[in-house]
Amino acid sequence: MTISLLVLNGPNLNLLGTRQPQVYGSATLADVEELCRQAGERLGIGIDFRQSNHEGTLIDWVHEAKGRHSGIVVNAGAYTHTSIALMDAIASVELPVAEVHLSNIHRREEFRHLSYISRVAVGMICGFGPHGYVLGIEALDNHLRSRG
Ligand code: DQA
Repeated sequence: MTISLLVLNGPNLNLLGTRQPQVYGSATLADVEELCRQAGERLGIGIDFRQSNHEGTLIDWVHEAKGRHSGIVVNAGAYTHTSIALMDAIASVELPVAEVHLSNIHRREEFRHLSYISRVAVGMICGFGPHGYVLGIEALDNHLRSRG
C-alpha cells in the first residue's frame, strides 16, 4: 500500500509569513505546503495538507484519517499546550504521529513547554522552521517503512 500522510496545521498557522516573523520566519503556509509536496514526491508518498483554526475540525480530520492515511504530521499550534481532546483523538485512531513546531518551544515561555501531543506522538521536531515539516515527513516515512 502506498504511504499517505495527513499534514495537519492548527490555529493561526494560516497567518504564517506575516505573524511574528521574528519568531516564525517569513515563509507562508503555502510555502510550507509546497515543501511538504516536494518531500512527498521525492519519497513517493501522498500528502494531504490541511489547516484549521477550529479544534473540532482538527479532531474530525484526525478521525477521518483512520483508514485513509498511514500517519499524521501535526503542528497543532497553541492547541499543542491545551487540547486534551486533540490528544485523545490521536490516541483513539492509533496512527503514528510526528509532532512539528516551527519554533523551539522549549526556548520560549513556560506555558509552551508542555505538549499534550508529545504524549501520543512517536517523536517531536522543533526549532528548524519550515524544514521541520520535511524532517517530520521523512521521519514518519522511515518509521512506517521500518515497521513494514
Ligand atoms: C507553534 C508553537 C506554539 O506554541 C504556538 O502556539 C504556535 C506555533 C510553532 O510552530 O512553533 O501557534 O506550534
